[in-house]
Amino acid sequence: MSEPTWPVARGSATLAPVVSRASVRRLVALAAGLALLLTACASDAPQDSLDPAGPEARTIDNLFGPVMVAALVVFVVVQGLVVYAVIKFRRRADEPEGLDEVPPQVHGNTRLEIGWTILPALILAVVAIFTVPVIFDLTEEPEDALTVDVVGQQFWWAYRYEDQERTDGPEFTTANELHIPAGEPVLLRLRSKDVIHSFWAPRLNGKRDVVPGREHTWRLEADEPGVYSGQCGEFCGASHANMRLKVVAHDEQGWQAWLDDQQRPAEEPTEEIAATGFELFGQRCATCHRVDGSWEQVAEDSPSAPNLTHLFSRDCFAGCIYDLNRNELEAWLRNPQRKAGSLMVIGQLTETEIDQLYAYLRTLE
Ligand code: CUA
Repeated sequence: MSEPTWPVARGSATLAPVVSRASVRRLVALAAGLALLLTACASDAPQDSLDPAGPEARTIDNLFGPVMVAALVVFVVVQGLVVYAVIKFRRRADEPEGLDEVPPQVHGNTRLEIGWTILPALILAVVAIFTVPVIFDLTEEPEDALTVDVVGQQFWWAYRYEDQERTDGPEFTTANELHIPAGEPVLLRLRSKDVIHSFWAPRLNGKRDVVPGREHTWRLEADEPGVYSGQCGEFCGASHANMRLKVVAHDEQGWQAWLDDQQRPAEEPTEEIAATGFELFGQRCATCHRVDGSWEQVAEDSPSAPNLTHLFSRDCFAGCIYDLNRNELEAWLRNPQRKAGSLMVIGQLTETEIDQLYAYLRTLE
């Protein structure tokens, strides 16, 4: 049998170098620009998971470092070989005759194939040896920890504090800002009221999905008092990006003061404009918003809305996308639909009514 012949196309006689100097210069400029852009990522990054602020986040970060190094080594070796092959076997301008002939065809190399199957499997096995225990560690529930119920919903977070021993008082509910004592483990019990969300405070722990019909638990601990930003980490609808959260970690004194404050019942307003606002609140807002400790409304009923008992003890509202101040709150009352997918329906309010409502809400400290 004769050797098979391959169809061969005859190319043009003269060939320009494949990579020109100008395009090399452009590539170098692009790479330098990208590198510069990446260095900017590190400054002012409140959700930097590479800057852990609690034991759980640190455990993940300790794992991330070596795995990243292994990945980088693989990347450099593979890309290095690709670049080497591209340069070494590139088409040259002074290529002799016979350029377009097909090189000898190779079909399989048993040793190589066994090698590049075993090596990655070994690398992954080593990574797994370190990763699997961490996954189990992170799902372990700490004993005697403060437990907070968390309900994710479109598009905000509700929290219930009911652990009588630790809070030493009646249960209460709050929204968006999760307050915890610093230096102590906290256990979250996560549930969803509608679709899948994901609770994520990157400097304190990884993501934990919040799934309808299930209860997931998640640990959280902050080394130091401070404010740690977070957000929903699972696409959940039009305002997924507007479903943020804050974790506020207190020192011992601050924690006790916050608890005392939250357990205080709301007082009826005395000032006239606020009292009118209170009446208006009863007519227009109280179907969904509560000013007491009722959890059922928040966790079970629909529609539900954040409990406002101590609204002005918070810094943010509406899924933590607006700072809590007069301007933002009045703009919200004028048009809650400024946040896409907001379930708040209040109808048109006059400016006088908005002032009255604001005067009442301001008393909820
Ligand atoms: Cu909730 Cu995304």
